[in-house]
Amino acid sequence: MNRTVEPRENFELSDLNTLHVPAVARFYQEVHTAGELAEALEWARNNDVDVLILGGGSNLVFNGDYQGLVVRICIRGCSWERVLGHEATLVLGAGENWHEAVLYATRAGYRGIENLALIPGTAGAAPVQNIGAYGVELCDTLVSVTALDRHSNTLVELTNKDCHFAYRDSLFKQSPGRYVITEIHLRLSREKPMQLGYRDLEEYLGDRPHEELEPIDVAEAVMAIRRRKLPDPGMIPNAGSFFKNPVVSEATFVKLKSGYPDIVGYPQIKGVKLAAAWLIDQVGWKGFRNERVGVHNRQALVLINHSAGTGRDILELADRIRESVKERFGVELEMEPGIVG
Ligand code: EPU
Repeated sequence: MNRTVEPRENFELSDLNTLHVPAVARFYQEVHTAGELAEALEWARNNDVDVLILGGGSNLVFNGDYQGLVVRICIRGCSWERVLGHEATLVLGAGENWHEAVLYATRAGYRGIENLALIPGTAGAAPVQNIGAYGVELCDTLVSVTALDRHSNTLVELTNKDCHFAYRDSLFKQSPGRYVITEIHLRLSREKPMQLGYRDLEEYLGDRPHEELEPIDVAEAVMAIRRRKLPDPGMIPNAGSFFKNPVVSEATFVKLKSGYPDIVGYPQIKGVKLAAAWLIDQVGWKGFRNERVGVHNRQALVLINHSAGTGRDILELADRIRESVKERFGVELEMEPGIVG
C-alpha cells in the first residue's frame, strides 16, 4: 500500500552519507514503492524543486545544503526468478543493502557476485557506477534493471546493453537524472567458475584447492582483505575510492615507466590503466591528516573525515591531491563520487 508523500522539511543528512559531512535537505522523503517514487517526483514538479536520489549515500559528497527534495530509495525485495538448472535470477529492490544481498546469494551457493562483498551502498546504486572489485564488475552478472524514466514517467526495463557499462561508468552517469532505478536483476550460477586471479585474492587463498571453494568462502576472503586495507565507513567515515584509476595511452605509459620503473599499470584494450593509489602514495599523501580530514594510511585512494570535516574540506583535500599528481606525473585524476551542491 502506498503511503502518502509528505516531505519533511530541513532534514539533516549527515547520518545518510558515509562521509558523515553535514548537509541539510530543504525537503526529504523516503519512498518504499515505485508508486511512491512517482508521487514524490510529481510533488517535486508541482513545487518546482530539484530532486536528488539517495541510496546508501556512499558515493557522494555534500558540498553544502541541498535546496530541493532528497528522495531516499527504500524499495525492498529479494527473490529468485527463472530458476533453471544451475542458473537463477536474483531480483533485488533498489533499497536493499548490497552486501547483505551478496551474503544471501553466496550462502545459497550462487556464484557471480562473491568478489563484490562488503561494498557499501544499495543494490539500486550498484549499476550507477558499475561497482567492481577483485576482477569482477556488476555488469558481468546484471541482466537488466527496472527504472522509472523521468522523461516518459513510466517504468522501463533496461537490458545490460542498454546500460552502456564501462569501468565505474554507465548510462545512469551519462544521462544523470533521467532514470531512477527501482529493481535490479542478476543472473547467477551454481557452477560458473569464480574469478580468483586478482593478486590480493590469490595471495589470501594461498594453497587452498580452488575446486573446494564455495562462493561464501570467496566472499569471506574478500571481506577479510577489505577489512585489512579499507576503513569501515561505519567506524571511519569515508566514500571508498575517491578517484578512478586513470587510463593513459601506451606511449604515455612507456614514458612514465622510463622515469618511474615501479609504476603500476594494467594494459587495457585501449591504453593502460594506472593505479591511482600508487600515484597518490608516491607524492606523499598517504596517511596525511589535518585536524578534520585526511588520506587513509593503508589505501591512498580513500579520503577520510576524521572529525567534523565538511564536504568542502574533503573537496579541498581532493584538489590538492589532484594537483600534486598532475604536477609530478602529468596525469589527471577524476573523482569517483558525485558532488552535490
Ligand atoms: N597501491 C599503492 N598504494 C596504496 C594502495 C595501493 O601503491 O596506498 C598500489 C598497490 O600496490 C597495487 C595497486 O596500487 O599495486 C592497486 O591497488 P589495489 O589492488 O588495492 O586496487 P586499487 O586499484 O587501488 C581498485 C578499486 C577498489 C577495489 C580494488 C580491488 C578503483 C577506483 N578502486 O582499487 O574499489 O576494492 O581495486 O579490486 O577502481 C571503491 O571503488 O570504492 C573501491 C574500494
